[in-house]
Amino acid sequence: MYICLCNAVTDRQIMQAAEAGARSRDDLARQLGIGLGCGRCVSCAEAVLNEVIADPPCPAGKLAA
Ligand code: FES
Repeated sequence: MYICLCNAVTDRQIMQAAEAGARSRDDLARQLGIGLGCGRCVSCAEAVLNEVIADPPCPAGKLAA
């Protein structure tokens, strides 16, 4: 699903950025351009980022205990 229409950024791209270490709106701006257009996507993008930070996916090949 597109989160940032100005820069055609999807929720999956935000999740991948979070998994790679993005931790703030500034990180998302630098890496993906989030918020650098109209800015309407910022709160939704932060919500996606915070979901991944709070509940990171299992590493590939490993099962949760
Ligand atoms: S929708 Fe992301 S900057 Fe406009």
